[in-house]
Amino acid sequence: MSTNREPIGVIGTGYVGLVTAAGFAELGNEVYCVDIDSEKIEGLKNGQIPIWEPGLEELIAKHRDRLHFSTNLSDALEHARLLFVAVGTPPTYSGDADLSAVNAVVDAMPPSDQHALVMKSTVPVGTGETIKRVFREQGKAGFRYVSCPEFLKEGSAIKDFLEPDRVVVGDDGDWAGDAVVELYAPLGAELVRTDIKSAEMVKLASNAFLATKISFINEIANVCEETGADVVEVAKGMGLDNRIGPKFLQAGIGFGGSCFPKDVTALKQLAGNSGYHFQLLNSVIEVNELQKRRVIAKLEKHLGKLVDKKIALLGLAFKPNTDDMREASSLVLSSRLQAAGAHVRAYDPVAEEEARKLIRGVSFKSTALDAIEGADAVVLVTEWPEFAELDLVEVKNAMAGDLLVDGRNLFDPGQVRDAGLLYEGVGRASSAAHQEV
Ligand code: UGA
Repeated sequence: MSTNREPIGVIGTGYVGLVTAAGFAELGNEVYCVDIDSEKIEGLKNGQIPIWEPGLEELIAKHRDRLHFSTNLSDALEHARLLFVAVGTPPTYSGDADLSAVNAVVDAMPPSDQHALVMKSTVPVGTGETIKRVFREQGKAGFRYVSCPEFLKEGSAIKDFLEPDRVVVGDDGDWAGDAVVELYAPLGAELVRTDIKSAEMVKLASNAFLATKISFINEIANVCEETGADVVEVAKGMGLDNRIGPKFLQAGIGFGGSCFPKDVTALKQLAGNSGYHFQLLNSVIEVNELQKRRVIAKLEKHLGKLVDKKIALLGLAFKPNTDDMREASSLVLSSRLQAAGAHVRAYDPVAEEEARKLIRGVSFKSTALDAIEGADAVVLVTEWPEFAELDLVEVKNAMAGDLLVDGRNLFDPGQVRDAGLLYEGVGRASSAAHQEV
């Protein structure tokens, strides 16, 4: 199905860049990927994928012939009109997005009225306007600009690319916007074609809303713990209301990752910079921070002081099906536990290598049972499917103690208790003192 599809360039071969490249290759486009990291590009040429994302390696291998990797921008400029920008926009100390990588791309563009930048990276509202001004100042007024935010989730990124809920294209109503719409047309998704600023805001507002939903259910969970209600039942009952919906209502030990924490703060900052105090987002962030720390209180409730206690962490990644450790709840948890004097051991099916770069003093184990062996308490941090398969009696027998803190409500409290363990979930009736009343 390849031939009359428009070739594209992708600048930045991180998460979004590689998935976008592989996704468009699947749709039949020739894709010219550029990155300044020559080691990464060499690896990619040899089929080495620098991130762990289910299906990505296979898709890139399948389309080897359509995917071209280079450190040279001119390779993309020569073959493609549309240059998708997928470089990092990490938070700065002030909480604003660091746009230096985006600015470097803008500065590297030559004057042209045949090319357009298509912004995939998450950027503050107004970035497109600034970039267009910079283009004009640099004598590159003919360069077009399109905002096309990405909504993929790590762990299901390929599916999210190929079956998006919607495609958002913000542009000035020129050929570039038309071409981007055309590129996505085979996916048959709902299209929101709008102005650039609105497209930029759709992205930030969507992530902030989802994060709000999580902090909301986490607060409901905390109240459930006080009142004896079960947040899993509550979320089920709420989620069946079409206006609420069942997704992103899983209470737990907080959201992490490279997007929600960064984007919520970026939107808060953006509002603040323009003179508006976005009060709700302050609470969303604060609730999320406190939520991670509640695990410590649950451990102390049963174990008393944590000095010299052996605590096993099951899962380290910020969520299952990724090796991404950015803003993972396990980072706060492991350092809080160590500060309280506990000995922390941990197991994650894929994130150990990434975790070792960020976590000190933790003993990494190669299986869940190795981590559990001799532990006073086990904390389920990331709901990897393999943990749901654990034989709870075996877990109990391997432990020195009997406390299971289920940070993601993965287990059935009754089954945990039947195995002779004490269960502490998040917002579950069974974990509350009311249980015995
Ligand atoms: C998120 C958005 O879901 C994507 O739409 C967006 O494109 C992406 O950010 C981005 O801006 O690039 P992602 O960070 O990959 O995607 O992960 P999510 O699946 O959204 O999970 C984020 C965090 O929320 C995880 O720590 C997860 O454990 C937590 N979460 C999620 C909950 O605690 N409860 C839930 O019900 C859902």
